[in-house]
Parts: sequence; C-alpha cells; structure tokens
Amino acid sequence: MEGHSTYQPTSRGARWLERRLPIISFVHSSFVAYPTPRNLNYWYTFGAILSFVLVAQIVTGVVLAMHYVPDGAMAFASVEHIMRDVNFGWLLRYLHANGASLFFLAVYIHMFRAMYYGSYKEPREVLWMLGVLILLLMIITAFMGYVLPWGQMSFWAATVITNLFTAIPLVGEAVTQWLWGGFAVDSATLKRFYSLHYLLPFMLVGVVALHVWALHVSGQSNPTGIDIKSKKDTLPFTPYATIKDTFATVVFLVALAWVVFFLPNYLGHPDNYIPADSLKTPAHIVPEWYFLPFYAILRAVPDKLLGVIALFGSIAVLFILPWLDTSRVRSAVYRPIYKQFFWIFVLVCIGLGYLGSQPAEGGYIIASRILTLYYFIHFLIILPVIGLLERPKPLPASISEAVLKDESATGGPAGQPAE
Ligand code: HEM
Repeated sequence: MEGHSTYQPTSRGARWLERRLPIISFVHSSFVAYPTPRNLNYWYTFGAILSFVLVAQIVTGVVLAMHYVPDGAMAFASVEHIMRDVNFGWLLRYLHANGASLFFLAVYIHMFRAMYYGSYKEPREVLWMLGVLILLLMIITAFMGYVLPWGQMSFWAATVITNLFTAIPLVGEAVTQWLWGGFAVDSATLKRFYSLHYLLPFMLVGVVALHVWALHVSGQSNPTGIDIKSKKDTLPFTPYATIKDTFATVVFLVALAWVVFFLPNYLGHPDNYIPADSLKTPAHIVPEWYFLPFYAILRAVPDKLLGVIALFGSIAVLFILPWLDTSRVRSAVYRPIYKQFFWIFVLVCIGLGYLGSQPAEGGYIIASRILTLYYFIHFLIILPVIGLLERPKPLPASISEAVLKDESATGGPAGQPAE
C-alpha cells in the first residue's frame, strides 16, 4: 500500500545516497506520496498526536534523568531539587507528568476510534494487536514512572501492585520478592523501576515503528470502513494529512500547555508530595486517573487471584477482539445496533473509571461488579452475537461516492454551502 514514489533525486549527493540507502524515497513514498483516504476526519489525527507525544516524553524524560537520583534516600529530594533549583526543571517535570496523562487520553481516544470504525478488522488484525501491545507497554512504563518521585502514593501504589503477584499459586511469594529485589518495596525496587522506565519507551518506539509499518502494508482504513477502490478515493499524504495532523497536534499542545501552566497538579494526588513512608499507609490508595477503570475491575472481584486474572483478562480480551466481532461491515456508521452498544461500552468504561476512584465498599463495589461483568459481556457475547443478527445499512459503492453524495446534498464540496 506504499505510495508509488515519484521521488527523483536531483542533486548528485542525493543520487549517491539513493543508490546506497534509498531512505529519502522510502520517506517520500511513506509520508509524502502515500495515498490517504480522502474522507479521514479528525479522529484519525490521534496517531500523529501520539507519535509526537511519545518523542516529547522521551526528550523531557532524558533531561529529567540528568538530575534525578534513583535511590530510596535521595529520590524525593532530587525531584524537589528539579522543581526548585534546576533551570526550568518545574516545566520539564510538569510537561512529563501531564504529558503522560494526555498521552493516555489520546491513546484511549485512538482506541475508541478504532473500535467505532472497526479498524481492527481484517486485514488490520496485526496492526491492532501491536496497538494493544503498545498499550500494555505504556501501562507498565507509566506505572514505573509514577513510582520514581518516591512520594507516599508512589510507594504504596508500588506496594499494592507488586503484591498482586503474590496471588500466583506456589511461586507467587518468590516472584514478588524477585521483583522487589528484597523483602519489601525498597531502594532496590526503585532502582530497577528506574532502569526499566528508561528502557521501555525505546521498546515502545520499536513497537510503534512496527505498528506504522503494519498500517502501511494494509493501508489506512476510513470512516466508511470500505476499501480504496480507485485513485479517486485517495489524496497524497502530504500536504493533506500532514497539515491536518500538524493542526491537531498544535491544538493538543495548547491543551497540554493549559494544564501545565494553570493546573499542573490537578491530575496528580497531593499525597505524592509527602515522602514515602513504609510505616504509614495513606487512607485511600488511588492510582492515576488513566488506570482507574482497570483498578475498578481488579477490586470488583472478591478473590485476589481471580481479581488479577480479571485485570489481565480485560487487556487480553482486546488482543482477540478482531475475532470476536463477527460483522462483515467495519464501520459503526452502517451498523445501527452496534453503534448503540459502542456508546454504552464507552459509558461503562467511564463508569468503571469513576468507581475506581471511590472506596471499595457498599454500592460502589456492587456497581463495579456489574460494570466489570458488562465489560466482558460486551466483548465475549454482544459483539459476536450482534455481528450475526444485525442488518447493516447499505454501504456506498466507494469512498469518493460517499464524499460526493455529501457534495450533491449541499450543492458544493462536502460540508460547504452551494455557491
Ligand atoms: C504510542 C502509541 C501509538 C502510536 C504512536 C500510534 C500511531 C498510529 C498512527 C500514526 C496511525 C495512523 C493514523 C491514525 O489512524 O490515527 C495509527 C493507526 C491505528 N492504530 Fe495506533 N498508535 C498507538 C497506539 C495504538 C493503540 C494502543 C491501539 C489499539 C489498541 C492502536 C490501534 C490502531 C489502529 C487499529 C489503527 C488503524 C486505524 C485505521 O486505519 O482505521 N494504536 N496508529
């Protein structure tokens, strides 16, 4: 699906390089001439936003690492040193912490977009599965990053989550102590988390490269979910997609700047400004907002091992999603029943997020159980069944026909009034 490269090296240097390493024509065919469906909307800009944020997280993280000290006795003070003494250290830290938050917001929107338009369906299964792997790596990376400031929430979040491994039958205790590097969460744990927190983003870059490669093999899907049939259905990636992606990324950065400059601690927990204390457990241990739905699932199940299985199951089920959805039609635009269940699913995920932030007792725990059950029913029962029962709306003959139908309705190009 690579765009046929029209690139012709003009200078002698470029010709020389082209014969030895055709990297310029590769970039040209992938990001300039690449045929992009002409009907992509703004929900399709989140991949570009995510790519930008990933690089920004690495850049701010590498500079933070120049000043941070991964030691139980000094980590908290070194973060305060970054905030107070290092030139623009506060900005780096707030960008990195809030950047992580908005990274998750963007990834969740990106995933819901894929679910709405059925982007995970044949032939994009591997592209989707690589996406789920990215999500998993992001979760591990963010969890370890949150431990580094070594505040109360850092310490207790590490304690709660690593303790989950003790639920593994027979070897649970040994595995957990191996993870800790001792008999409790301590400086040794902090050091290994720091090492992995530095390493994993580079693995993420590798998996993202595979993700984009898979995207370029199958070609980008589009809101109609129908395949590209002719050249009329596409536009070259540059300038059309490049400009749109850049605009969306700038809007996203304005949102990030707003949080960083006006509400830098809004998304965090005040207890993390108290140094870690292994003798004082905070009243409520809550993870960052982006983990709350998973946290609610974990706590909904009364048995520890089953809770851990439900937690991992909630991500594992995403891996097999392409095979659970039995509908031949990709996009929810033409699937009236699925569309409704999609929005119910979104509300259920938001509901689980809310419940994850509340104490695990009374009505909250009952509601968590119901929503957790629904989460799995959505994937394991609703999707396979409605794919078979639903009668999809008729699909347009081609992408260009879908776009031109808009034009004939308004008398002008899509969305514009007639002259
Ligand atoms: C660091 C995180 C990620 C980056 C940088 C990234 C990057 C991209 C890019 C550049 C695109 C093409 C533009 C677009 O459709 O938005 C894309 C498409 C896609 N991504 Fe991701 N992605 C990430 C995470 C994920 C995750 C977590 C999933 C799912 C679990 C996922 C699933 C998909 C799918 C299915 C498509 C194809 C969309 C279509 O063609 O309709 N991605 N990704």
